[in-house]
Amino acid sequence: MKRGIRSYVLRQGRTTPSQQRALEQLMPAYGIEYRPALLDTRALFGRTVPLVLEIGSGMGETTARIAADNPGTDFIAVEVHGPGVGSLLKRIDAQGLKNLRIIRYDALEVLEQMIADGSLAGIHLFFPDPWPKKRHHKRRLVQPGFAALAARKLAPAGVLHAATDWPEYAAQMAEAFDAEPLLARAAEARARPSTKFEQRGVKLGHEVRDLVYRRR
Ligand SMILES: C[S@@+](CC[C@H](N)C(=O)[O-])C[C@H]1O[C@@H](n2cnc3c(N)ncnc32)[C@H](O)[C@@H]1O
Repeated sequence: MKRGIRSYVLRQGRTTPSQQRALEQLMPAYGIEYRPALLDTRALFGRTVPLVLEIGSGMGETTARIAADNPGTDFIAVEVHGPGVGSLLKRIDAQGLKNLRIIRYDALEVLEQMIADGSLAGIHLFFPDPWPKKRHHKRRLVQPGFAALAARKLAPAGVLHAATDWPEYAAQMAEAFDAEPLLARAAEARARPSTKFEQRGVKLGHEVRDLVYRRR
């Protein structure tokens, strides 16, 4: 994918002292360093089970909950925002989650460089930044190039599960995913715990849409 325009802007934001401590002390245990080389997930988790990658885990409540509820699946969360990474590290530690690791880096680079083609059982993309202003639409993560990249990384029958509370972005996602030959709309709906960003949208009266596709 052509890069240059990022889907995020790193704002300073407030990192609490405990998030900062988590970043310093827990990252070596539960974090994965970004490297432009394929990840050896068997060595990382010590087993070979279905692997799900989450893009933009935010503060990580939903990520940790899904990992706790699915001990037979391994999860990699990718997030750029320091306070969010710190917060998820604390949850991994407090809940003793053995099946969840985090990478603090641009998820597109991680997908391209660290994840083998055809290797993911699932990709979670819950409430990516909607970038509502027209001049910012180019920052949206879901573009045709993203659909192709995600499809390529999924194993056959692997699931791409996206959600948004921004109807016009949902339409853009559906258009991009429908146009990708390797993806087919899944017949079944997929349940998931609600996320922090979603709850904010729902309070504002936004309608939430889930999009679920399977790799052919
Ligand atoms: C609107 S928030 C949603 C967070 C969470 N999924 C939720 O629903 O509460 C989007 C998140 O995606 C992260 N993000 C955006 N672009 C990203 C990228 N290219 N790689 C990794 N994280 C990214 C942002 O830092 C932000 O935390």
